[in-house]
Amino acid sequence: MDINESLNRILHARESLGELFYDHFLSTYPELQQHFAGVDFKRQRVQLVTALMIIERYHADPTPAVEQYLQYLGTKHNELNIPKEGYGKWTEAMIEAMGRFHGDDWSPTLEEQWREAIGKAIALMFEGYETRVTV
Ligand code: HEM
Repeated sequence: MDINESLNRILHARESLGELFYDHFLSTYPELQQHFAGVDFKRQRVQLVTALMIIERYHADPTPAVEQYLQYLGTKHNELNIPKEGYGKWTEAMIEAMGRFHGDDWSPTLEEQWREAIGKAIALMFEGYETRVTV
């Protein structure tokens, strides 16, 4: 399975990856829970899964529109006071959740593809921390 099929399975499974991710993310890194006070998790899970679509798209085809969206997302997180140090934790929790989600279909190659895609997205989000990008 490659990253595109992985994404398809995630999207077909509605919010289920989002549930796995937030349960794992916030229990493993309780210091980050403060940022989610008052957040509507149903909405958040849907937005998270949709963000994976953006991340995969940029990996497959780095178009200016998707680049701009990721920079904007970074600006938004900067305005939410999300520390840059949180992103390594986010990545590890996401890889763990994806591994659980895919079970026997998970592989080192697929992990590598997602890590590369997530890394590129985070680099763009960090550009949006330095320069305010709006849409
Ligand atoms: C690659 C990493 C990340 C991606 C792709 C991502 C994606 C998203 C998306 C798509 C939204 C919704 C934005 C909107 O309302 O338009 C969001 C909101 C948010 N994210 Fe992230 N995020 C990432 C990292 C993080 C990290 C590391 C944290 C905290 C430690 C975090 C905390 C939040 C919070 C608190 C919100 C606002 C929720 C709300 O007020 O409704 N995110 N994120």
